[in-house]
Amino acid sequence: MLPDMAILSLISLVIIFTFSAELARGNDFEPLNYVSSKNELKTYIIHVKKPEAHILAQADDLSNYHKSFMSARATAALNQEQDFLYSYKHVINGFAARLSEEDVEAMKEMEGFVSAHLEKVLHQQTTHTPRFLGLHQDTGLWRESNFGKGVIIGVLDGGILPTHPSFTDEGMPSPPARWKGKCEFVTSKCNNKIIGARSFNNSATIVSPFDQEGHGSHVAGIAAGRFVKNAAVLGLGNGTAVGVAPKAHLAIYKVCPTTDKCFESDLLAGIDAAVNDGVDVISISIVGKFAVPFFQDAIAVGSFAAIQKGIFVSCSAGNTGPSNSTVLNDAPWILTVGASTTDRSFKVTTKLGNGEEFAGESLFQPEGFSAVLMPLIYAGSSSNSNSSFCVEGSLEGIDVKGKIVLCERGLSTRVSKGETVRKAGGAAMILMNQEIDGSTTIAESHVLPAAHVSYATGLRIKAFINSTVEPKAAIVFKGTRSGDPLAPAVASFSARGPSITTPGILKPDIVGPGVNILSAWPFSVGGDSNSLSTFNVQSGTSMSCPHLSGIAALLKSAHPNWSPAAIKSAIMTTADLNNLNESPIVTERSVPADVFAIGAGHVNPSKANNPGLVYDIHPDEYIPYLCGLGYTNDQVGVITQRPINCTNETSIPEAQLNYPSFSITLASINQTYTRTMTNVGEPNSSYYIEIIPPKGVLVTVNPTSLDFTEANQQLTYRVTFGRSTETIYTQYAQGFLKWTSTHHTVRSPISVKLV
Ligand SMILES: *[C@@H]1O[C@H](CO)[C@@H](O)[C@H](O)[C@H]1NC(C)=O
Ligand SMILES: *[C@@H]1O[C@H](CO)[C@@H](O)[C@H](O)[C@H]1NC(C)=O
Ligand SMILES: *[C@@H]1O[C@H](CO)[C@@H](O)[C@H](O)[C@H]1NC(C)=O
Ligand SMILES: *[C@@H]1O[C@H](CO)[C@@H](O)[C@H](O)[C@H]1NC(C)=O
Ligand SMILES: *[C@@H]1O[C@H](CO)[C@@H](O)[C@H](O)[C@H]1NC(C)=O
Ligand SMILES: *[C@@H]1O[C@H](CO)[C@@H](O)[C@H](O)[C@H]1NC(C)=O
Ligand SMILES: *[C@@H]1O[C@H](CO)[C@@H](O)[C@H](O)[C@H]1NC(C)=O
Ligand SMILES: *[C@@H]1O[C@H](CO)[C@@H](O)[C@H](O)[C@H]1NC(C)=O
Ligand SMILES: *[C@@H]1O[C@H](CO)[C@@H](O)[C@H](O)[C@H]1NC(C)=O
Repeated sequence: MLPDMAILSLISLVIIFTFSAELARGNDFEPLNYVSSKNELKTYIIHVKKPEAHILAQADDLSNYHKSFMSARATAALNQEQDFLYSYKHVINGFAARLSEEDVEAMKEMEGFVSAHLEKVLHQQTTHTPRFLGLHQDTGLWRESNFGKGVIIGVLDGGILPTHPSFTDEGMPSPPARWKGKCEFVTSKCNNKIIGARSFNNSATIVSPFDQEGHGSHVAGIAAGRFVKNAAVLGLGNGTAVGVAPKAHLAIYKVCPTTDKCFESDLLAGIDAAVNDGVDVISISIVGKFAVPFFQDAIAVGSFAAIQKGIFVSCSAGNTGPSNSTVLNDAPWILTVGASTTDRSFKVTTKLGNGEEFAGESLFQPEGFSAVLMPLIYAGSSSNSNSSFCVEGSLEGIDVKGKIVLCERGLSTRVSKGETVRKAGGAAMILMNQEIDGSTTIAESHVLPAAHVSYATGLRIKAFINSTVEPKAAIVFKGTRSGDPLAPAVASFSARGPSITTPGILKPDIVGPGVNILSAWPFSVGGDSNSLSTFNVQSGTSMSCPHLSGIAALLKSAHPNWSPAAIKSAIMTTADLNNLNESPIVTERSVPADVFAIGAGHVNPSKANNPGLVYDIHPDEYIPYLCGLGYTNDQVGVITQRPINCTNETSIPEAQLNYPSFSITLASINQTYTRTMTNVGEPNSSYYIEIIPPKGVLVTVNPTSLDFTEANQQLTYRVTFGRSTETIYTQYAQGFLKWTSTHHTVRSPISVKLV
């Protein structure tokens, strides 16, 4: 779900946008129970030293070793069993427990204690898209990967509706023999599609992994939903719904027991279980609030354990774009996924009294709504500054009866504005973007006839209202339309680079479909149907992430030996930069998307299946990178789960990691890096270099051609970045380097910060 809230600061006239489902819920990544007494119990994540091997003769011993730390508690009389929450086996050396501050102090004295921190709270952030992505039955990647057959995608989210037709197991093979997962449904069962389902709620009670909210089923349906005919939402988007990897198995880990609230200890336990159970891909449409160093970031730490086992991890980049440096889930071992539009819209036309017509969107398109001109009103000139936003109560005393009301985004949720208009007697709503939202419009199930329009359109409508004494407009529903030549475009909410945590790695990595995505939903939207086949349309990087998880599953099925880094490289170096019009992909501002918006580009699954060369990374290569970030030995050790002495390691700058893109901070001194490419294409193949240097930057590559003679052969090149004499006026410049053979183009984006 893509929540929406804008706070208008009247003093400075600066509009600050945060995205949040409801005011009350907020964006609380900060520790829980901030103000509390010393004895109050709170959930802590405790890192400890790995015990000596002989202590762990049996499987249960690790848990007992972790529990032994509870004996130090100051509040010893309390229930140790109940307050001990999780013993982690894979993701960290440590456990989660409810403790008082005094308990933590006492524990610090114990042999083997490393560190403790209060747990954080994180937030959750079709189907036409497979065809839009170039996936077709009987040909190409779907055929070569057999629709993802045999691959297990672990989805960490809000659970699933197991009886939904998107998750039937007709024709599905049994789970692979290595599968060790569990099924914790109370009244339902797992099947060959949903091969495991577990729930993590501070382990206090076993809560069913059943999805009551929708987000979890939607995300799982995008990654691996089956073909379902005649899927539609409120009569729109009618067609066959299908996920990206329809033959992949799903393993469900419910780590967000209530809407949009996910606790760190549960999330870590979910990743721990997924790693243990044997999934191949982990999909996480959950983000924290702030950028934090990787050793404090549960998703980064847990994912590092996953990639050690060859598990691919795909995560949402976050919904706080388009501001700079909003990207999260940005560890280099994670695929960080931004969101873009597709060529399908749920179209509504706004017709003005002067004959002008503008495109907009809505998911609610009632039949029988008359497309006649009606009075049009904008309440912005009222004395109540909330009226222009149609905030609850703000239209009282304004005559909107039988009129179309123009409402601005911000201050309250988009759908609630329609409720305000309807309550006040309005006939319909035109919802206009703020400048920051640009042209990204979202189809939602509004409570009355509505059209969500771009900022530019909103300005034109305002000018029209100003220009005439009796402004009139009509709302005309056009249903489902496809073929928008400007698709894909980067969505306004898609979080942007540069990364704060690791500026030397270009993030996000990729964009994929994340606007108006149709997928499975546990109940009927609009509530007027008894159909079992319920779907909904949602927007957010929550939706783009599982597209990439599904694509990773297809690639894993087609290339079982590719490492997570190889799969990521294949996805990134083959991405598209052009839209359906064959012109550069734009953002919500209708300008070409820069690398901080689009990363390597828009995913092209068929090309990713045949990249020619990949930039591979062995998990151990992240250690010199982590030392190079300036982390202490203990901080690196939290991530690696084994003692690291950075003095012993050759620390490397971030840009030296064998990453498929470049992000450099360049002063006057030249910088040289090496990259090693692995041949996954034809054994005998020759590549030559082509460079599009960033403005103001000289890029030289040596050698300028690479001649491979064997499969999986590795060759290394050196790339030097230096300043040119050209004077440039921007802080950031961007370019590309690409290796080209007869059959392949292996392209890496370059971002240079000039200092
Ligand atoms: C979708 O369209 C098909 C035929 O085009 C029709 O039979 C079916 O009833 C429609 N389904 C919905 C849910 O509108
Ligand atoms: C999760 O557990 C807490 C107590 O630990 C409980 O209050 C809450 O209702 C549980 N959530 C669900 C969805 O069961
Ligand atoms: C950040 O935003 C400002 C203004 O919005 C823009 O001028 C600047 O170029 C941006 N920086 C990057 C790195 O994109
Ligand atoms: C405007 O709306 C906000 C929140 O919706 C509310 O706190 C504030 O009091 C309102 N202001 C006025 C003038 O009604
Ligand atoms: C509409 O008119 C008012 C008052 O004349 C003016 O302040 C405002 O800028 C105008 N708005 C637009 C969009 O033209
Ligand atoms: C670091 O190197 C020293 C000397 O070579 C060695 O004794 C020590 O075990 C190493 N430490 C780690 C953590 O690798
Ligand atoms: C790390 O290694 C260096 C050099 O080998 C050694 O001098 C230092 O004592 C080691 N530090 C730790 C904490 O082991
Ligand atoms: C690759 O080329 C070399 C000589 O250029 C040749 O000996 C070898 O057989 C070729 N390998 C393949 C797989 O075609
Ligand atoms: C820096 O690199 C450029 C090529 O990228 C080269 O021409 C120049 O001589 C180098 N300068 C120094 C000081 O090494």
